[in-house]
Amino acid sequence: MRKKFIAGNWKMNTTLDEAVALAKDVVKTMGDTSDVDIAICPPYTSLYAVSEVLKGSTVKLGAQDVHWEAKGAFTGKVSCAMLKSVGVTYVIIGHSEQRTYFHETNETVNKKVKATLAAGLLPIICVGETLEERKSGKMDAVIESHTVGAFAGISAEDALKCTIAYEPVWAIGTGETATPQQANEAHIYIRKLLTKLYGTSTAEQIRIQYGGSMKADNAKALLGQSDVDGGLIGGASLKASDFAGIVKPV
Ligand code: PGA
Repeated sequence: MRKKFIAGNWKMNTTLDEAVALAKDVVKTMGDTSDVDIAICPPYTSLYAVSEVLKGSTVKLGAQDVHWEAKGAFTGKVSCAMLKSVGVTYVIIGHSEQRTYFHETNETVNKKVKATLAAGLLPIICVGETLEERKSGKMDAVIESHTVGAFAGISAEDALKCTIAYEPVWAIGTGETATPQQANEAHIYIRKLLTKLYGTSTAEQIRIQYGGSMKADNAKALLGQSDVDGGLIGGASLKASDFAGIVKPV
């Protein structure tokens, strides 16, 4: 049985004070939850302060990106060691906003996954098609290239430390959600790809989250699907009560 995993992706929201207040609210509402894994991913500027708030709770800290190099002249970038030093456990890699606006490719995703695992951090790897790709029948090919690309050169042992987030781009921040069936079909397809790469036993253990306008009122149906093992939540993670509404029905 895969334990459900709900992660909040705060994106470019919250100042330091706002992040601390939101993290405190999350801990108050869900800080001792143990039947579901929970993580929150604030902006870099609030990671350290939020890690202090999360101490003693079951809520883990995630970052929204990382650079693959260890150190040096990479202005604006943050390394795995830096993230570890402020208490980060998870790293979101390959989010569609990174792919669309900041030149993220399957190759850079793979480099980030490798660096993250080498540092002892746990990747949350985002994959998913645009509406145009879905409509033109390219959905499977896109998901395959994202998935196979991300896991290139990754051992089965390391693959078990990864979470995949299936995020159809057309459902992110749009209020439009994949139906539970659409989500599950994509998840089953991703698990088939993982089976080809690593065999059934490993593929069955890797968690696949759904992301894209998941909220309290649609979470139960999505999370009730056979292969939906959690959620990567954007908008609805910015209010603790909304976020709790997704975690609670699990
Ligand atoms: P959303 O974002 O829940 O606001 O659609 C999800 C994500 O981009 O991770």
